[in-house]
Amino acid sequence: MLKNADEYVLKIENLKAFYTSRKGLVKAVNNITFDIRKGESVGLFGESGAGKTSVALAIMGIFDQVSRYYTSASSDPENKKLWDKRDEARRKGLTSDELGMELPGVEGKIWFSGKDLLTLDEKEYRKIRGKEITYVPQGTIKSLNPYTQIREQTAETLWAHDEDNLWIEREVLRRVLETLDLVEIGDSDRRQFMKPGEFSMGEDQRILLAMALISDPCLMITDEPTTALDMGVQRRILDAIGIIRRELDLSLLLISNDQGLIAETSDRVAVMSAGRIMEFGDTECVLNSPGHPFTRAFIMSNPSMEVMRKIREKGLRLRGIPGNPPDLSNLPTGCPFHPRCEYAKDICKTMLPEYREVKDDYWIFCHRFEELPEW
Ligand SMILES: Nc1ncnc2c1ncn2[C@@H]1O[C@H](COP(=O)(O)OP(=O)(O)O)[C@@H](O)[C@H]1O
Ligand code: SF4
Ligand SMILES: [Mg+2]
Repeated sequence: MLKNADEYVLKIENLKAFYTSRKGLVKAVNNITFDIRKGESVGLFGESGAGKTSVALAIMGIFDQVSRYYTSASSDPENKKLWDKRDEARRKGLTSDELGMELPGVEGKIWFSGKDLLTLDEKEYRKIRGKEITYVPQGTIKSLNPYTQIREQTAETLWAHDEDNLWIEREVLRRVLETLDLVEIGDSDRRQFMKPGEFSMGEDQRILLAMALISDPCLMITDEPTTALDMGVQRRILDAIGIIRRELDLSLLLISNDQGLIAETSDRVAVMSAGRIMEFGDTECVLNSPGHPFTRAFIMSNPSMEVMRKIREKGLRLRGIPGNPPDLSNLPTGCPFHPRCEYAKDICKTMLPEYREVKDDYWIFCHRFEELPEW
């Protein structure tokens, strides 16, 4: 995929992340490949339940813990056996394919700074997680401690990684103010002493961004930064992300089901459904002329003004996605989108499409890409 190995900050290859559940393995991330270049912002866009958050958990090295100790999964003896098998595979350095069975947990490659993160032990991972790669999870309020001043909480993310005591307090506090100013927390000299409950929802979200930025990461992942917020608040967050992109030399992975956010903040976008990347390419091209039937249907289900104009111009029929997303513990054969796809043919029902680069820097997961009508 990459023209030049130095170009990327993160490169994900054939990543799988399967949960255990009472119903069996949940294939939340199913063999995905994409990369993020230096200074680039990549969007991970798709319907709810597509596996987007699971990708973030895999990159942060916490997917297995989350999955293994999830109550409904850990109490089941069959699931415990599966996790024991996963441990055995890791010890022996074998993949699930080599062991001849499907296993829970993360598998594949996640290249970052020349290292495959999936080969690191917890101690090595801790040097990267929260420092070089930071994560702003979905759901603002729960992530902030309501009893601690934001100055302390923001500084804490730096202290937590300062094992060699390199930071002096004055410097840390200066950086806290600088970072709060960057995300436009007004009057930060005074308000740094306030607690999360005293800020608005949108400010809370921007404080989380500040906390994820203070360690000067190479890559920041934000998960649904604007979901469930009203329009005015969303605007301020989008502006803050815009400032971050302009002012800082970092790469971003922006996870969202909001087309407007992706359009405004991402250079390239990977469209996700049913644990797969359906298409991956330049954001403007993908959102304005999607090549994949899923993207077309998804965009149509909540069309932007631009898409509405196009629909009128081209006389397209406005329709959403019929039916429900597939059950990731019981996927259909062939293309996982075939039960909902208006272009499905027999081959789609029996054969899994290949994820292939059909044009320079443009990837698609569809048998029929070349035959589809233009959009
Ligand atoms: N701890 C878990 N155990 C089992 N299944 C899970 C768990 N967390 C999420 N899932 C399932 O994994 C799938 C992908 O979820 P997620 O990554 O959160 O999707 P998204 O972020 O795109 O909404 C969904 O079907 C969801 O129900
Ligand atoms: S492979 Fe077939 S079912 Fe899947 S998106 Fe393409 S046309 Fe539709
Ligand atoms: Mg999510």
